[in-house]
Amino acid sequence: MTHILALDQGTTSSRALLFDGSLRPVRIAQKEFPQHFPQPGWVEHDPEAIWATTLFTAREALDGTSPGAVAALGITNQRETTLVWDRTTGRPIHNAIVWQDRRTAPFCEELAAEGWSEPVADRTGLLLDPYFSGTKLAWLLEHVDGAREAAEAGQLLFGTVDSFLIWRLTEGRVHATDATNAARTMLYDIRRGCWDEEICRRLGVPLSMLPEVRDCAGDFGTTTMLGGHLAICGVAGDQQAATIGQACFAPGMMKSTYGTGCFALLNTGSDFVRSRSRLLTTIAYKLDGRVTYALEGSIFIAGAVVQWLRDGLHLIGTAAESQALAEAADPEQDVVLVPAFTGLGAPYWDPDARGAIFGLTRATGPAEFARAALESVAYQTHDLWEAMRRDWPGATRAVLRVDGGMTASDWTMQRLADLLGAPVDRPVVRETTALGAAWLAGHAAGVVPGPEEFARTWALDRRFDPSMGDVERERRIALWDDAVRRTLSHR
Ligand code: G3P
Repeated sequence: MTHILALDQGTTSSRALLFDGSLRPVRIAQKEFPQHFPQPGWVEHDPEAIWATTLFTAREALDGTSPGAVAALGITNQRETTLVWDRTTGRPIHNAIVWQDRRTAPFCEELAAEGWSEPVADRTGLLLDPYFSGTKLAWLLEHVDGAREAAEAGQLLFGTVDSFLIWRLTEGRVHATDATNAARTMLYDIRRGCWDEEICRRLGVPLSMLPEVRDCAGDFGTTTMLGGHLAICGVAGDQQAATIGQACFAPGMMKSTYGTGCFALLNTGSDFVRSRSRLLTTIAYKLDGRVTYALEGSIFIAGAVVQWLRDGLHLIGTAAESQALAEAADPEQDVVLVPAFTGLGAPYWDPDARGAIFGLTRATGPAEFARAALESVAYQTHDLWEAMRRDWPGATRAVLRVDGGMTASDWTMQRLADLLGAPVDRPVVRETTALGAAWLAGHAAGVVPGPEEFARTWALDRRFDPSMGDVERERRIALWDDAVRRTLSHR
């Protein structure tokens, strides 16, 4: 019983990683699945595609490993994405509404006009934004024929992706989620640790359809679908799992993950910190009944900007080419891209903003576009970094731990350190999201070291020290601030 299987169900692909007893990844399987865009601003996934790719990759990762050799199963997932299914048939009533989907923006405005912003922020730590599950669930109950009646009759179940997978893996025996995923629904009171009846009532969500909320390391049932009996005992949303995988267990530690979007989390310990800078307050993890909170900054477009260079503009053939192109850019040109392709997230929260580019001249070419695209990720991280330091006096540790696909680019990481004016640490193991889920499952199963010892095993691949002078950094930040100001929708 030396291995741990981690399922990482993400926005564009499902992945499964098998870790050995020393938490080293030994086998990885990955499968992409289609994205559906039924209308501008809408994003959906077929729940059966989520399920099929999860099962497929889990089986691939386990290939040849005897079921008896796997001690535990951990799940981590794209957060907020909303599913509703029938408790008898297990069949979803609609496609999953993905976290990026903006269809409930008008409903959020209506709620804000009714005065819900303050109670929502105070109880759930979140802002009234279509990003979160609550208004997506309300939309499903409102728009799918017969859904409200069926929900009220106790026939329908709601879940984020973790819940749905747990339900399917346990063949309908367990309807549960963990505290970090619950914290992203806008229905969960993260101070009291329970579903908020008042918010649910306003959103027309019957409490009977909500999953039971459990600690991140604990009993989520057993699956027999992957061969043998496998205990599901670690669950966390992907950004929280990455926080654990980066061993950010001490208050003041901060990580930033560069996937489709970028998500920075700052561990604030037992403090529920109310942000004055429009960051989110969330649960970093809940272990042994104790909640650790975090401040989170969510940026919607990070790695997606490289995809845009490749698939939208056809400036590069592969993501890896973006660095060389950026390096070839003319240092005399100040081209700034604000990638508000799906609005802007923290700290602006402007769903109506759209992307813009500034500083174009006759000399501007693909290289300057590539540099502006990569730099936009560093500028956005800088906004979050500054907001966190303003919001919480405990944010004194001046190092950022990074992970995710974009961190493979040395140039981007160096530019990030330069624009932050602080060191950026890239770990040896960059599969931090799956590692966090594996650690949670292993922790519950008692087969991995405790947090302190695990933190000591975190190993640095490379530190990027800032090398840009203060005057130049401030000049560039001013250019970015100006570009953002001109991009905001000024609703
Ligand atoms: O909040 C959304 C986030 O959890 C999605 O992460 O890595 O699937 O883009 P990712």
